[in-house]
Amino acid sequence: MTPPQTDIIKAADIIRAGGLVAMPTETVYGLAADATNDLAVARIYEAKGRPSFNPLIVHVSCQQMAEREAVFSRLARQLALSFWPGPLTMVLPRRPDASVSLLVSAGLDTLAIRMPAHALAHDLIRAAERPLAAPSANLSGTVSPTTAQHVADSLGGKVDMILDGGQTEIGLESTILKIDGERAMLLRPGGLSVEEIERLAGVKIERASASGPIEAPGMLASHYAPQARLLLNAGAPGDRDFYLDFGDSGFSRRPNTLNLSRSGSVREAAANLFAYLRAADAECRAKALKAISVAPIPDRGLGEAINDRLARAAAPKPKP
Ligand code: TXA
Ligand code: MG
Repeated sequence: MTPPQTDIIKAADIIRAGGLVAMPTETVYGLAADATNDLAVARIYEAKGRPSFNPLIVHVSCQQMAEREAVFSRLARQLALSFWPGPLTMVLPRRPDASVSLLVSAGLDTLAIRMPAHALAHDLIRAAERPLAAPSANLSGTVSPTTAQHVADSLGGKVDMILDGGQTEIGLESTILKIDGERAMLLRPGGLSVEEIERLAGVKIERASASGPIEAPGMLASHYAPQARLLLNAGAPGDRDFYLDFGDSGFSRRPNTLNLSRSGSVREAAANLFAYLRAADAECRAKALKAISVAPIPDRGLGEAINDRLARAAAPKPKP
Protein backbone atom coordinates (compact mmCIF):
# COMPACT_ATOMS: atom_id res chain seq x y z
CA MET A 1 0.00 0.00 0.00
CA THR A 2 2.72 2.45 0.94
CA PRO A 3 4.40 3.95 -2.14
CA PRO A 4 8.15 3.43 -2.38
CA GLN A 5 10.63 6.22 -1.66
CA THR A 6 11.06 6.83 -5.40
CA ASP A 7 7.44 8.02 -5.50
CA ILE A 8 8.16 10.59 -2.79
CA ILE A 9 11.12 11.88 -4.78
CA LYS A 10 9.01 12.11 -7.92
CA ALA A 11 6.21 13.86 -6.03
CA ALA A 12 8.68 16.33 -4.50
CA ASP A 13 10.03 17.12 -7.97
CA ILE A 14 6.48 17.84 -9.17
CA ILE A 15 5.92 20.17 -6.19
CA ARG A 16 9.18 22.04 -6.83
CA ALA A 17 8.20 22.47 -10.47
CA GLY A 18 4.91 24.10 -9.42
CA GLY A 19 2.66 21.06 -9.93
CA LEU A 20 -0.13 19.51 -7.85
CA VAL A 21 0.17 16.33 -5.78
CA ALA A 22 -2.65 14.69 -3.84
CA MET A 23 -1.23 13.47 -0.54
CA PRO A 24 -2.73 11.44 2.26
CA THR A 25 -2.81 12.92 5.75
CA GLU A 26 -4.21 11.41 8.93
CA THR A 27 -7.45 13.42 8.41
CA VAL A 28 -8.33 13.48 4.70
CA TYR A 29 -6.39 13.65 1.42
CA GLY A 30 -4.98 17.06 0.61
CA LEU A 31 -4.37 18.71 -2.76
CA ALA A 32 -0.83 19.94 -2.23
CA ALA A 33 1.32 22.54 -3.95
CA ASP A 34 4.37 24.65 -3.11
CA ALA A 35 2.96 27.23 -0.68
CA THR A 36 5.69 29.70 -1.65
CA ASN A 37 4.81 29.64 -5.37
CA ASP A 38 1.97 32.04 -6.33
CA LEU A 39 1.17 30.28 -9.60
CA ALA A 40 1.17 26.83 -8.03
CA VAL A 41 -1.26 28.07 -5.37
CA ALA A 42 -3.48 29.57 -8.08
CA ARG A 43 -3.56 26.11 -9.68
CA ILE A 44 -5.02 24.67 -6.47
CA TYR A 45 -7.97 27.07 -6.58
CA GLU A 46 -8.40 26.35 -10.26
CA ALA A 47 -8.45 22.57 -9.76
CA LYS A 48 -10.93 22.81 -6.86
CA GLY A 49 -13.27 24.96 -8.91
CA ARG A 50 -13.84 27.33 -6.02
CA PRO A 51 -15.80 30.42 -7.01
CA SER A 52 -14.00 32.40 -4.32
CA PHE A 53 -10.61 32.34 -2.58
CA ASN A 54 -11.20 30.44 0.65
CA PRO A 55 -7.84 30.58 2.44
CA LEU A 56 -5.77 27.39 2.57
CA ILE A 57 -3.96 25.51 5.32
CA VAL A 58 -0.15 25.46 5.21
CA HIS A 59 1.37 22.07 6.04
CA VAL A 60 4.79 21.87 7.67
CA SER A 61 7.12 19.05 8.69
CA CYS A 62 8.76 20.67 11.72
CA GLN A 63 8.29 23.49 14.22
CA GLN A 64 11.14 25.49 12.71
CA MET A 65 9.40 25.58 9.33
CA ALA A 66 6.18 26.75 11.03
CA GLU A 67 7.92 29.53 12.94
CA ARG A 68 9.46 30.92 9.77
CA GLU A 69 5.93 31.69 8.54
CA ALA A 70 3.81 32.59 11.57
CA VAL A 71 4.15 34.23 14.97
CA PHE A 72 3.73 31.76 17.84
CA SER A 73 2.49 33.01 21.20
CA ARG A 74 3.26 31.03 24.33
CA LEU A 75 -0.13 29.29 24.03
CA ALA A 76 0.42 28.49 20.35
CA ARG A 77 3.76 26.91 21.12
CA GLN A 78 2.25 24.90 23.97
CA LEU A 79 -0.53 23.59 21.70
CA ALA A 80 1.99 22.71 19.01
CA LEU A 81 4.05 20.80 21.57
CA SER A 82 0.99 18.92 22.80
CA PHE A 83 -0.82 18.15 19.55
CA TRP A 84 1.61 18.31 16.60
CA PRO A 85 1.96 16.32 14.51
CA GLY A 86 -1.80 15.81 14.52
CA PRO A 87 -5.26 17.00 13.41
CA LEU A 88 -5.00 20.52 14.85
CA THR A 89 -4.76 23.62 12.66
CA MET A 90 -3.85 26.94 14.26
CA VAL A 91 -4.65 30.30 12.74
CA LEU A 92 -1.80 32.59 13.73
CA PRO A 93 -0.51 36.04 12.76
CA ARG A 94 1.37 35.86 9.50
CA ARG A 95 5.00 36.95 9.78
CA PRO A 96 5.72 40.05 7.67
CA ASP A 97 8.62 38.18 6.09
CA ALA A 98 6.72 34.91 5.59
CA SER A 99 7.76 32.96 2.51
CA VAL A 100 4.30 31.61 1.68
CA SER A 101 2.23 33.22 -1.05
CA LEU A 102 -0.31 35.90 -0.10
CA LEU A 103 -2.80 33.90 -2.14
CA VAL A 104 -2.57 31.03 0.39
CA SER A 105 -4.15 33.19 3.08
CA ALA A 106 -6.28 35.01 0.49
CA GLY A 107 -4.82 38.31 1.56
CA LEU A 108 -5.46 37.83 5.29
CA ASP A 109 -2.90 38.85 7.90
CA THR A 110 -3.21 35.42 9.48
CA LEU A 111 -2.08 31.99 8.37
CA ALA A 112 -3.62 28.59 9.09
CA ILE A 113 -0.85 26.08 9.87
CA ARG A 114 -0.69 22.43 10.78
CA MET A 115 1.80 19.58 10.99
CA PRO A 116 0.14 16.43 9.65
CA ALA A 117 0.73 13.08 11.40
CA HIS A 118 1.21 10.94 8.33
CA ALA A 119 4.53 9.51 7.17
CA LEU A 120 3.89 10.21 3.48
CA ALA A 121 2.82 13.82 4.03
CA HIS A 122 5.78 14.34 6.36
CA ASP A 123 8.26 12.80 3.89
CA LEU A 124 6.86 14.81 0.99
CA ILE A 125 7.17 18.15 2.81
CA ARG A 126 10.71 17.26 3.87
CA ALA A 127 11.72 16.14 0.40
CA ALA A 128 10.23 19.27 -1.19
CA GLU A 129 11.99 21.36 1.48
CA ARG A 130 9.16 23.87 1.69
CA PRO A 131 5.73 24.25 3.28
CA LEU A 132 2.82 22.87 1.25
CA ALA A 133 -0.54 24.56 0.82
CA ALA A 134 -3.30 21.95 0.75
CA PRO A 135 -7.06 22.07 0.92
CA SER A 136 -9.00 18.83 1.00
CA ALA A 137 -8.55 17.12 -2.38
CA ASN A 138 -12.14 17.34 -3.58
CA LEU A 139 -14.08 19.63 -5.86
CA SER A 140 -15.59 22.58 -4.05
CA GLY A 141 -18.91 21.70 -2.46
CA THR A 142 -18.34 17.92 -2.38
CA VAL A 143 -17.28 15.72 0.54
CA SER A 144 -13.64 15.35 1.55
CA PRO A 145 -11.77 12.33 0.17
CA THR A 146 -10.52 9.59 2.49
CA THR A 147 -9.06 7.26 -0.15
CA ALA A 148 -6.86 7.76 -3.22
CA GLN A 149 -9.77 6.48 -5.32
CA HIS A 150 -12.01 9.31 -4.06
CA VAL A 151 -9.37 11.79 -5.20
CA ALA A 152 -9.07 10.12 -8.60
CA ASP A 153 -12.86 10.17 -9.03
CA SER A 154 -13.15 13.84 -8.12
CA LEU A 155 -9.93 15.45 -9.39
CA GLY A 156 -8.28 12.71 -11.43
CA GLY A 157 -7.45 14.69 -14.54
CA LYS A 158 -6.42 17.78 -12.60
CA VAL A 159 -3.62 16.48 -10.38
CA ASP A 160 -0.15 15.57 -11.58
CA MET A 161 0.21 12.69 -9.11
CA ILE A 162 -1.75 10.94 -6.39
CA LEU A 163 0.22 9.42 -3.51
CA ASP A 164 -1.77 6.41 -2.35
CA GLY A 165 -1.60 5.91 1.40
CA GLY A 166 -4.71 3.79 1.69
CA GLN A 167 -7.66 4.92 3.74
CA THR A 168 -7.07 7.92 6.01
CA GLU A 169 -7.12 7.14 9.71
CA ILE A 170 -9.39 9.91 11.02
CA GLY A 171 -11.54 10.64 7.99
CA LEU A 172 -12.58 14.06 9.26
CA GLU A 173 -10.82 17.38 8.67
CA SER A 174 -8.58 18.94 11.31
CA THR A 175 -9.93 21.06 14.17
CA ILE A 176 -9.20 24.74 13.54
CA LEU A 177 -8.40 27.12 16.40
CA LYS A 178 -7.73 30.79 16.01
CA ILE A 179 -5.03 31.82 18.46
CA ASP A 180 -5.06 35.44 19.58
CA GLY A 181 -2.23 35.86 22.04
CA GLU A 182 -3.22 33.59 24.93
CA ARG A 183 -6.83 33.14 23.76
CA ALA A 184 -8.01 30.22 21.65
CA MET A 185 -11.23 30.29 19.62
CA LEU A 186 -12.84 27.39 17.79
CA LEU A 187 -13.27 28.11 14.08
CA ARG A 188 -14.04 24.57 12.93
CA PRO A 189 -14.67 21.42 14.96
CA GLY A 190 -12.75 18.46 13.54
CA GLY A 191 -10.64 15.41 14.18
CA LEU A 192 -9.36 16.53 17.58
CA SER A 193 -12.11 17.16 20.13
CA VAL A 194 -12.31 20.43 21.99
CA GLU A 195 -12.68 18.52 25.26
CA GLU A 196 -9.41 16.70 24.62
CA ILE A 197 -7.56 19.93 23.88
CA GLU A 198 -8.95 21.56 27.01
CA ARG A 199 -8.14 18.53 29.17
CA LEU A 200 -4.62 17.86 27.90
CA ALA A 201 -3.49 21.46 27.49
CA GLY A 202 -5.40 22.94 30.41
CA VAL A 203 -6.83 25.78 28.33
CA LYS A 204 -10.37 27.06 27.84
CA ILE A 205 -11.45 27.21 24.21
CA GLU A 206 -13.94 29.90 23.31
CA ARG A 207 -16.85 28.93 21.12
CA ALA A 208 -18.91 31.13 18.87
CA SER A 209 -22.02 30.89 21.05
CA ALA A 210 -20.32 31.98 24.26
CA SER A 211 -18.81 35.27 23.14
CA GLY A 212 -20.95 36.40 20.26
CA PRO A 213 -20.14 35.77 16.63
CA ILE A 214 -16.66 34.55 15.81
CA GLU A 215 -15.37 35.06 12.33
CA ALA A 216 -16.10 31.86 10.44
CA PRO A 217 -13.24 30.35 8.48
CA GLY A 218 -12.86 32.11 5.23
CA MET A 219 -15.38 34.76 6.10
CA LEU A 220 -14.58 37.41 3.60
CA ALA A 221 -15.53 40.42 5.69
CA SER A 222 -12.28 39.87 7.54
CA HIS A 223 -10.19 39.73 4.40
CA TYR A 224 -7.69 42.37 3.49
CA ALA A 225 -9.41 45.32 1.86
CA PRO A 226 -7.35 48.22 0.59
CA GLN A 227 -7.71 51.58 2.32
CA ALA A 228 -7.85 53.30 -1.04
CA ARG A 229 -11.14 53.47 -2.94
CA LEU A 230 -11.44 50.60 -5.40
CA LEU A 231 -13.08 51.08 -8.80
CA LEU A 232 -13.88 47.96 -10.80
CA ASN A 233 -14.30 47.25 -14.52
CA ALA A 234 -12.35 50.35 -15.43
CA GLY A 235 -11.52 50.20 -19.14
CA ALA A 236 -9.16 53.11 -18.54
CA PRO A 237 -7.73 54.65 -15.36
CA GLY A 238 -8.44 58.19 -14.16
CA ASP A 239 -5.50 60.62 -14.07
CA ARG A 240 -4.88 60.28 -10.35
CA ASP A 241 -5.58 56.54 -10.11
CA PHE A 242 -3.29 53.61 -9.57
CA TYR A 243 -4.23 51.17 -12.32
CA LEU A 244 -4.34 47.39 -12.05
CA ASP A 245 -4.36 46.46 -15.70
CA PHE A 246 -5.13 43.14 -17.34
CA GLY A 247 -4.11 41.93 -20.78
CA ASP A 248 -2.52 43.82 -23.61
CA SER A 249 -4.33 47.13 -23.31
CA GLY A 250 -1.85 49.85 -24.22
CA PHE A 251 -1.17 51.13 -20.70
CA SER A 252 2.14 49.34 -20.35
CA ARG A 253 4.14 52.58 -20.18
CA ARG A 254 1.78 54.39 -17.85
CA PRO A 255 3.28 55.17 -14.43
CA ASN A 256 1.34 53.98 -11.38
CA THR A 257 0.29 50.85 -13.22
CA LEU A 258 0.76 47.16 -12.61
CA ASN A 259 -0.46 44.51 -15.01
CA LEU A 260 -2.10 41.48 -13.36
CA SER A 261 -1.37 39.47 -16.49
CA ARG A 262 -0.10 40.96 -19.69
CA SER A 263 -0.87 37.72 -21.55
CA GLY A 264 -4.45 37.71 -20.27
CA SER A 265 -4.10 34.62 -18.07
CA VAL A 266 -6.61 34.55 -15.20
CA ARG A 267 -4.36 32.07 -13.38
CA GLU A 268 -1.46 34.52 -13.46
CA ALA A 269 -3.79 37.35 -12.42
CA ALA A 270 -4.95 35.30 -9.43
CA ALA A 271 -1.35 34.62 -8.47
CA ASN A 272 -0.58 38.37 -8.50
CA LEU A 273 -3.88 39.69 -7.12
CA PHE A 274 -3.23 40.10 -3.38
CA ALA A 275 0.37 41.22 -3.71
CA TYR A 276 -0.61 43.83 -6.31
CA LEU A 277 -3.58 45.08 -4.29
CA ARG A 278 -1.23 45.70 -1.37
CA ALA A 279 1.37 47.36 -3.57
CA ALA A 280 -1.28 49.58 -5.17
CA ASP A 281 -2.66 50.55 -1.78
CA ALA A 282 0.81 51.49 -0.53
CA GLU A 283 1.43 53.60 -3.66
CA CYS A 284 -1.90 55.39 -3.21
CA ARG A 285 -0.90 56.33 0.32
CA ALA A 286 2.65 57.31 -0.59
CA LYS A 287 1.65 59.45 -3.60
CA ALA A 288 -1.78 60.61 -2.42
CA LEU A 289 -3.48 59.02 -5.42
CA LYS A 290 -7.29 59.07 -5.58
CA ALA A 291 -8.20 55.43 -6.10
CA ILE A 292 -7.17 52.01 -7.34
CA SER A 293 -8.96 51.26 -10.58
CA VAL A 294 -9.00 47.74 -11.91
CA ALA A 295 -9.39 46.66 -15.52
CA PRO A 296 -12.26 44.29 -16.39
CA ILE A 297 -11.33 40.69 -15.59
CA PRO A 298 -13.08 37.99 -17.63
CA ASP A 299 -15.38 35.77 -15.56
CA ARG A 300 -13.95 32.49 -16.87
CA GLY A 301 -11.97 30.05 -14.72
CA LEU A 302 -10.31 31.77 -11.77
CA GLY A 303 -11.69 35.07 -13.06
CA GLU A 304 -14.88 34.34 -11.14
CA ALA A 305 -12.96 34.09 -7.84
CA ILE A 306 -10.96 37.23 -8.68
CA ASN A 307 -14.14 39.18 -9.40
CA ASP A 308 -15.80 37.86 -6.24
CA ARG A 309 -12.83 39.00 -4.20
CA LEU A 310 -12.64 42.40 -5.90
CA ALA A 311 -16.37 43.01 -5.44
CA ARG A 312 -16.04 42.34 -1.70
CA ALA A 313 -12.97 44.52 -1.42
CA ALA A 314 -14.81 47.35 -3.19
CA ALA A 315 -17.97 47.05 -1.08
CA PRO A 316 -18.49 49.70 1.61
CA LYS A 317 -16.53 48.73 4.70
CA PRO A 318 -18.62 47.72 7.73
CA LYS A 319 -18.28 50.11 10.66
CA PRO A 320 -16.20 48.50 13.41
O1 TXA B 1 -7.62 18.14 7.80
C1 TXA B 1 -7.52 19.18 7.14
O2 TXA B 1 -7.51 20.30 7.69
C2 TXA B 1 -7.40 19.03 5.63
C3 TXA B 1 -6.07 18.32 5.33
C4 TXA B 1 -5.80 18.21 3.86
O3 TXA B 1 -5.02 18.99 5.99
N1 TXA B 1 -7.46 20.30 4.97
C5 TXA B 1 -8.61 21.04 4.88
O4 TXA B 1 -8.48 22.19 4.13
O5 TXA B 1 -9.66 20.70 5.40
P1 TXA B 1 -9.71 23.03 3.55
O6 TXA B 1 -9.15 24.04 2.60
O7 TXA B 1 -10.72 22.11 2.98
O8 TXA B 1 -10.26 23.81 4.80
C6 TXA B 1 -9.47 24.82 5.36
C7 TXA B 1 -10.32 25.74 6.22
C8 TXA B 1 -11.25 26.58 5.39
O9 TXA B 1 -12.53 26.57 5.99
C9 TXA B 1 -10.64 27.96 5.48
O10 TXA B 1 -11.59 28.98 5.40
C10 TXA B 1 -9.94 27.92 6.83
O11 TXA B 1 -9.44 26.62 6.90
N2 TXA B 1 -8.82 28.86 6.90
C11 TXA B 1 -7.65 28.81 6.25
N3 TXA B 1 -6.88 29.87 6.54
C12 TXA B 1 -7.57 30.62 7.43
C13 TXA B 1 -7.31 31.84 8.11
N4 TXA B 1 -6.18 32.51 7.94
N5 TXA B 1 -8.26 32.31 8.94
C14 TXA B 1 -9.43 31.64 9.13
N6 TXA B 1 -9.73 30.49 8.51
C15 TXA B 1 -8.82 29.97 7.66
MG1 MG C 1 -12.47 21.21 2.37
